[in-house]
Amino acid sequence: MLPVIDPAASSTAPKHHPGVPVLPLPSPPAFGSPSTGHGPDSSMEWLGVLLALLNGVTRIDWSGAGVSAGRPVPSGGGAYPGEVYAATPAGLCHYVPSAHALELLSRTDLRADVTRTLERPPLTPPESVLLITSRLGANLARYGPFGHRLQALDTGVLTGQALTVLASAGAEPRAHARFADGELGRLLGLDPRAERVHAIVTARAPRDIAPGTPLLRRRTARSGFEPVPVPLATVLTVLAETARPLPLDHVAPVDCELYVIAHRVTGLETGCHRRDPRTGRLVPVAAGVTPRALFPPGGPGELAGFEAACAVLVTGDYESGYPLHGDRWYRMLNLRAGAVAQRIGLAAARAGLGAGLRCDVDTPAADALLRAAPDRTTLLAALLGPERGNGTPSCPLLHPRAPS
Ligand SMILES: Cc1cc2nc3c(=O)[nH]c(=O)nc-3n(C[C@H](O)[C@H](O)[C@H](O)COP(=O)(O)O)c2cc1C
Repeated sequence: MLPVIDPAASSTAPKHHPGVPVLPLPSPPAFGSPSTGHGPDSSMEWLGVLLALLNGVTRIDWSGAGVSAGRPVPSGGGAYPGEVYAATPAGLCHYVPSAHALELLSRTDLRADVTRTLERPPLTPPESVLLITSRLGANLARYGPFGHRLQALDTGVLTGQALTVLASAGAEPRAHARFADGELGRLLGLDPRAERVHAIVTARAPRDIAPGTPLLRRRTARSGFEPVPVPLATVLTVLAETARPLPLDHVAPVDCELYVIAHRVTGLETGCHRRDPRTGRLVPVAAGVTPRALFPPGGPGELAGFEAACAVLVTGDYESGYPLHGDRWYRMLNLRAGAVAQRIGLAAARAGLGAGLRCDVDTPAADALLRAAPDRTTLLAALLGPERGNGTPSCPLLHPRAPS
């Protein structure tokens, strides 16, 4: 059964802190100017680029619903419940994407205090500390209790994006899901009934941050997919990029695994295949099924499921983690799945494919296709294929740096 959704209910407004000092960040569209071959030259500049690429407004989209601001990361229903805070030498800041500015919440350098709350802090004190929270009520009016899962997935997407951007800048990032929640909430001044920290990303100082083309091209294939085949090699590349180990502070007792439901993949039988994590090969598990079978008939996913070349299912096992991590495992597993989903979107953009993340799958129907251990379940699906026509009209606000 799909969760009951009220499409008329709107998301709550993003957070801001009236009355605190606001620090405008250097304008990231400066990337449109000719490359000097060097990265940002002040810590404020690289923080501005990092935050823009993480959660800023990076494009304008036109759709039937009007004009909207597009972000580098996807979000369930476009609700964007995640907020990003940075603990910096100058103090604790909250990022306001619409203004591309920082709200200065405290002039104290809280990096050491935040690091102390981590169950597995990095060996050397981190220079960069990002805190990713979720506003608990952000999407509940529309999605009901299912909104909590979307929030965990969304913060996973943001965490994955932070890891990607910081790793590309040579900053050796690590994401933390295990920390002293209460103490951390107090440090940030959060009301625990309204907003909680879901993840912390620690890193060295980035060497050079610049938007790569795939990072700026990622978006949901809103115009649907051309129902044409894609080569198996392209799908395998997307899967290989997606399945790289995530630098997290914990090991999953049973890791997320990827399954592919192929419909139009040249060189791959139509049906469900499991990606063997050791060899990267696709092992057939159920013949003849197509991504359409993942969606309830007549629902919004059915057409997209029919058109897509294939679906990638991100799966995980809830039961294996509770004995080790307690209730927190629910959030940890969905955070992991969100980070994997972020990689799928990026790898698809790099391969020139359109992608669409979907949580509106019929989970029991999808799980039946996996023929996996009974506790393994589908956490989300990503549809892949060439986007129809020229895609939805969109205007980029940042430009990739030309190769030097
Ligand atoms: C966890 C998650 C679940 C999503 N589920 C769906 C879905 O079920 N159906 C859908 O059409 N889009 C889904 N999306 C895509 C969002 O609607 C989309 O990311 C958002 O509107 C922002 O647009 P963009 O991806 O083009 O930037 C999902 C995205 C995320 C991150």
